[in-house]
Amino acid sequence: MDKWTRHHLLDLQGLSKEELETILETAKSFKEVSAREVKKVPALRGKTIVSLFLEPSTRTRGSFELAAKRLSADTINMSGTGSSLSKGETIVDMAKNIEAMNVDLIIVRHADAGVPYMLANNLKAAVVNAGDGCRSHPTQALLDMFTIKEKKGRIDGLKIAIVGDILHSRVARSNIVGLTRLGAEVTVCGPSTLIPIGIEKMGVKVSYDLNETIKDKDVVMLLRLQKERQHENYLPSIREYAIQFGVNKNRLRHAKKDVMIMHPGPTNRGVELSAEVADGEYSVILDQVTNGVAVRMAVLYLTLGTKEAED
Ligand code: CP
Repeated sequence: MDKWTRHHLLDLQGLSKEELETILETAKSFKEVSAREVKKVPALRGKTIVSLFLEPSTRTRGSFELAAKRLSADTINMSGTGSSLSKGETIVDMAKNIEAMNVDLIIVRHADAGVPYMLANNLKAAVVNAGDGCRSHPTQALLDMFTIKEKKGRIDGLKIAIVGDILHSRVARSNIVGLTRLGAEVTVCGPSTLIPIGIEKMGVKVSYDLNETIKDKDVVMLLRLQKERQHENYLPSIREYAIQFGVNKNRLRHAKKDVMIMHPGPTNRGVELSAEVADGEYSVILDQVTNGVAVRMAVLYLTLGTKEAED
């Protein structure tokens, strides 16, 4: 690919296979920076990046901040409490005021789907989506794809199951888009109440039986049961869910010998997976977190390399 031309990263829908591969290759080149004694390169010296997290986060917020700092950008963090949002200022007004301080890029997480798109429509600064409602979490999917490629050597042709609360999962949506575009065969598996009607149109298979699904999968990606987004009775009980869809050592006996277990975090141990699976030999959960820094370095670096607004 000649040159990165996208000003924002809002989702993966509009990205070509070549663009996805460019991000993954750029992340690969940045990964060794975090292993150095002095974990810093001057690539974004003089740039200013603002993190605007209006929903809780540990991994995404921490790794974006480290990514920006390792690229030598200046950074500030803002949250809902402690900002003028709590006095009634709108998010667009707040973002415009932040932009007026000559910032180059705003990273935003919000509980409502669409907020990053709204900011991108109203700002000249680049906008990167760090997760919006149930819609999109592009950098999580990119780090998942990076981890799969790093561990398995490829994505094309792999059989991947995404298991659990698909209905409320921005991680699932972004992964389905990215993984299918790079040639994986994706199956979503979970209780029928937590699988959106018509999801097959996204190019995935649907299963309601984890024991059957797990048999031939190269990768099993477990999702957190999002209790904060469940305002209706989708499940008889959490215990019932854990019995049907939780992965423990017994269930792994049905899986391939080299199956890879992923989870975007935070995990509900004893619900989606047992502690021994989370910490066991098949789990790459902490590798995903490590790779999040390199992937977010790549996204910040590429996004700030262009001023052309295409999104
Ligand atoms: N995976 C993920 O988005 O984790 P955080 O909510 O901790 O950022």
